[in-house]
Amino acid sequence: MKIEGSKWLVTGGGSGMGKHFTLGLAKLGADVAFCDMSADAIAATVAAGEGLPGKVLGFTCNVANSAEVDQWVADAAAALGGADGLINNAGIIRDGLLVKKEKDSGVVSVLSDAKWQQVIDVNLSGVFYGTRAFAKHHVETKAGQEAVIVSISSISRAGNQGQSNYSAAKAGLVSMTKLWAGELARYGIRTGAIAPGFTRTPILEGMPPAMLEKVVAPVPLKRMGEPEEIFQAVKFIAECGYFTGRCIDVDGGLVL
Ligand SMILES: NC(=O)c1ccc[n+]([C@@H]2O[C@H](COP(=O)([O-])OP(=O)(O)OC[C@H]3O[C@@H](n4cnc5c(N)ncnc54)[C@H](O)[C@@H]3O)[C@@H](O)[C@H]2O)c1
Repeated sequence: MKIEGSKWLVTGGGSGMGKHFTLGLAKLGADVAFCDMSADAIAATVAAGEGLPGKVLGFTCNVANSAEVDQWVADAAAALGGADGLINNAGIIRDGLLVKKEKDSGVVSVLSDAKWQQVIDVNLSGVFYGTRAFAKHHVETKAGQEAVIVSISSISRAGNQGQSNYSAAKAGLVSMTKLWAGELARYGIRTGAIAPGFTRTPILEGMPPAMLEKVVAPVPLKRMGEPEEIFQAVKFIAECGYFTGRCIDVDGGLVL
C-alpha cells in the first residue's frame, strides 16, 4: 500500500509511539484519525499535526469498551472519507508477580484480579474490538481493496517475569494476527504485529534510572529503541504487499 494519500486509524495516538505513528503517517501524506482517553494528550497531538501534509484528527475513545470502539471506527472513517489502515497501539502496564511472599512478615500477596483484567481489557480485548470494527467496515465498504492492520505486541510476549497479564495479552494478539491473516485475506486485508523491545516513550518514565540501566544492559545494542525505529516496521508492513500474519521483533537483539 502506498502511504501517501492513504487513510489510517491509530489507537493511543496521544502519547509515545501512537503519537509518533500518527504524526509520521501525516508527514508522509496520509490522513490519520487517532483516538486516546486523555483530552490534553489528544489536543497536543492534533496541535503537533497542524501544517503537516496529511490531516490529523483526534477522537476520545476507550479501546476497552467495544461500543466506543465501534462508534470511533464509524466516526473516524466517516471523517476521513474511508479507512485503509489501522494501528492497534494503545496499551498499559500493571505489573506484579503472580504470588509474592514478604521476607519479614511472611505475608503472601498475589497479582490482583483488577490488574489482570485492566491489562487484558486494553491490550487484548482492545485489539480484538478495533480489528473487528475495522474489518467489518472494510468488508461492508471496500471488500477486495487493500487494507492493513498493524498491532503492537512486545518482546514480553515471550513471557516476562512480573507481567503475567501483559505477556498473555501481547502473545495473544500475535496469535490473532496470524489467524486473521487467513480469515481476512479474501477481503484484501493484510495483518502484521510488531514486538518492540524497550523503547523511549512515556510508558517507561515511571521506571527509576537505575532500573532502566538494568534493563538496557542485556540488550546487544546497549540502548533503548526510538519510536522512529518502530515506525520503520509499521511502514514496512504497510508497504510490502507480500507481508501478512507475522510479527516483526524490533528489540535491539534482546532475548528474554
Ligand atoms: N515503550 C516500550 O518500551 C514498549 C515496548 C513494547 C511494547 N510497547 C507497546 O507499545 C504501545 C505504545 O506504548 P507507549 O510506550 O507509546 O506508551 P504510552 O503510555 O506513551 O502511550 C500509550 C497511549 O495509549 C493510551 N491509552 C491507554 N489506554 C487506553 C485506552 N483504554 N483507550 C485508548 N487509549 C488508551 C494512553 O493514554 C497513551 O496515550 C503499547 O501497546 C505498549 O504496550 C511499548
